[in-house]
Amino acid sequence: MRKTKIIIDKAYRVAPVDNRMFGSFIEHLGRAVYGGIYEPGHPLADEDGFRRDVLELVRELHVPVIRYPGGNFVSNFFWEDSVGPLEKRVPRLDLAWRTLEPNTFGLGEFAKWAKKADAEIMMAVNLGTRGTADACNLLEYCNHSSGTKYSELRREHGTEEPYNIKLWCLGNEMDGPWQLGSKTMEEYGRISAETGKAMKLIDSSIELVSCGSSFKDMPTFPQWEAVTLSENYDYVDYLSLHQYYGNEKNDGADYLAQSDDMEEFIHTVLSVCDYVKAKKRSKKTMYLSFDEWNVWFHSKAQEEDITRNHPWQTGPHLLEDHYTFEDALMVGLMLITLLNHADRVKIACLAQLVNVIAPIMTEEGGVWRQTIYYPFLHASLYGRGTVLKTVTDTGVHETGSHGEVTDVVNTAVYNEEREELTIFAVNRNLAEDQELTIDVRSFGEFRVLEKLVLVNPDLKAENSLTEEKVRPETDTNVSQGDGILRTILRKASWNVIRLRLG
Ligand code: AHR
Repeated sequence: MRKTKIIIDKAYRVAPVDNRMFGSFIEHLGRAVYGGIYEPGHPLADEDGFRRDVLELVRELHVPVIRYPGGNFVSNFFWEDSVGPLEKRVPRLDLAWRTLEPNTFGLGEFAKWAKKADAEIMMAVNLGTRGTADACNLLEYCNHSSGTKYSELRREHGTEEPYNIKLWCLGNEMDGPWQLGSKTMEEYGRISAETGKAMKLIDSSIELVSCGSSFKDMPTFPQWEAVTLSENYDYVDYLSLHQYYGNEKNDGADYLAQSDDMEEFIHTVLSVCDYVKAKKRSKKTMYLSFDEWNVWFHSKAQEEDITRNHPWQTGPHLLEDHYTFEDALMVGLMLITLLNHADRVKIACLAQLVNVIAPIMTEEGGVWRQTIYYPFLHASLYGRGTVLKTVTDTGVHETGSHGEVTDVVNTAVYNEEREELTIFAVNRNLAEDQELTIDVRSFGEFRVLEKLVLVNPDLKAENSLTEEKVRPETDTNVSQGDGILRTILRKASWNVIRLRLG
């Protein structure tokens, strides 16, 4: 059996984890809203038409912040159509997903839903087909107390108190040719700077996210980051990253090696941020908002078909990836990568939350948890605290296009308040178990609270409404002595080891 050794010392800290690391995303896309979080008439809908069973799972995941309303959708979104009396709202054509948007669920409904879900809103403005003035009007509607055109409009619409939305995205994926109103880097640099400047004049307490490249392989990456930040650096607080992975080649080992690409992506983006900081002689550090991340590939063929060859409809089945066990491992690896960058990644949104590339799926008969639900749940529940820098000695294995990669990828989160230490580890060696020792001597006394494992002999195992093939198990095979913890990390497994300190 292979051997892996991890040393964790409570003095070696990366940074406290921002709660917004466990954010997610609801877009007007497919069945995320209509038939997802909102389904009036469904037996489980509450008085506002929100599905109670969905809300229950969202709350179980403890999602602190949810990005809304898109995504590609936002780049031709007319927010005014989504507010006010229902009988006056009119349907619009959503060109991003070739869908009929009925506007029966809008900003006010989302704010109400987010409150029930115990989540803050991360709002995106349309910098595609609209611009600075409309973004300002929306902010005035949301955050200004009263006495102005848009704050009074909100009050007329029955919302006396401002929504006070603190986090705003300046558009979405503006470099993407698929985006309505896409921009060159020079154009986006200017419009985001001017919009950011104006929005902060309306409410100086808000935080702004500038669009980074749509993904790492965009031809203009990382020049896009360098040019746009050079323009808007003084007005924005975060730079966004988006990245989806998939096992298109059906090569499990190579698939799981892609978390190394994510690591490199973050590293490069940080280098650009720090280059612009140095160039501007700025004292301000730019933080990252990884506001779209996940596995997305199963549904890609279906998406081409539905967006191009179908009639206009509301709530079609779009981007409904059914996730496998190996996808859950990949999501676990991505979570570990994000946590290990807690010093600079302050916001991260699993894209998305319900039905659309999502951990939560709805059907007429109920809701079910996809495989990827579990690593996200574990990280959200036990990944809050301070990330510690672990020192790892582990083997390597060969992969198709990534060369040699490490077997075990891990992170450790120290929650001083709860006196807990949690180690998250993926053994991405698909052929061999690992004999793991963890040196936690710096913590003194401890006891093992539990070890949770996600493991399945079938990498392609999926969950469904009727059968949950992939779910966490408790592994009691953990021993300790002289400050050293010993256990086995099964081949292809997600592991959560929780210790109570003192
Ligand atoms: O999350 C699905 C889509 O992926 C979003 O609308 C877009 O921002 C990204 O390309």
